[in-house]
Amino acid sequence: MYFAVISIFPEMFASIREFGITGRAVTQEQVTIECINPRDYTTDNYRRVDERPYGGGPGMVMMAEPLAQAIEAAKLRASQQGCRIGKANCPVVYMSPQGQTLSENSVLDMTKYDGMILLCGRYEGIDERLLSQYVDLEVSIGDYVLSGGELPAMVMIDSVIRRLPDVMGDKLSAEQDSFVDGLLDCPHYTKPYEFAGMAVPEVLLSGHHANIAKWRFIQQVKRTQTRRPDLWQAFTPTAEQAQWLKALEKQD
Ligand code: ADE
Repeated sequence: MYFAVISIFPEMFASIREFGITGRAVTQEQVTIECINPRDYTTDNYRRVDERPYGGGPGMVMMAEPLAQAIEAAKLRASQQGCRIGKANCPVVYMSPQGQTLSENSVLDMTKYDGMILLCGRYEGIDERLLSQYVDLEVSIGDYVLSGGELPAMVMIDSVIRRLPDVMGDKLSAEQDSFVDGLLDCPHYTKPYEFAGMAVPEVLLSGHHANIAKWRFIQQVKRTQTRRPDLWQAFTPTAEQAQWLKALEKQD
């Protein structure tokens, strides 16, 4: 999968290009992450990408022209990398608190794209005419404001890459994470057997895979019920999970 990031701080993206699961996906050429700096598309000596807002008020606004050229350059690169261009295959995504909130479901949908072009804003925002002309999708990572779109873009790229087929060393691990089946994750344990006077739950040592699966599911349910009642409300169990839930209700 191809990612083009349009940002005036391209160095920030070293963290996902060089480290961890995303870094390995880059090295193994499962993904390409390229940065395009809108300053390279300015014509003045100062390489200015921002100006004062029409109508007055605090802060600066990113100008349309350098961003438009950066997006065109990103589309050209994407097509050279084998992406089909257009909203359905390689959308231009603006990271912004006004967008649709990212979720594990929307992340999974994004893995179907050939590529994505991510537009990272700074300052008070971006000239609205650029957004209406070029942006296919607006995405927020939550109801809080960051000082730019770079961290949100990295959050989104990381979450998409780890759901790509063949990227996670242990495939099951991405599928068993929180949210994937609509529940929070279960607790995990490793050596030593005892820590701070607490032993590992016996069932995990039993080698009985069905009992372990059931125990983990019940833990997920209990956590989700107490910590995220909204998720619990929306949860639909499989036939097997419904059986386990019935048994749990009888116990309580
Ligand atoms: N830019 C600034 N804050 C943001 C957020 N919460 N999500 C996406 N982009 C942003």
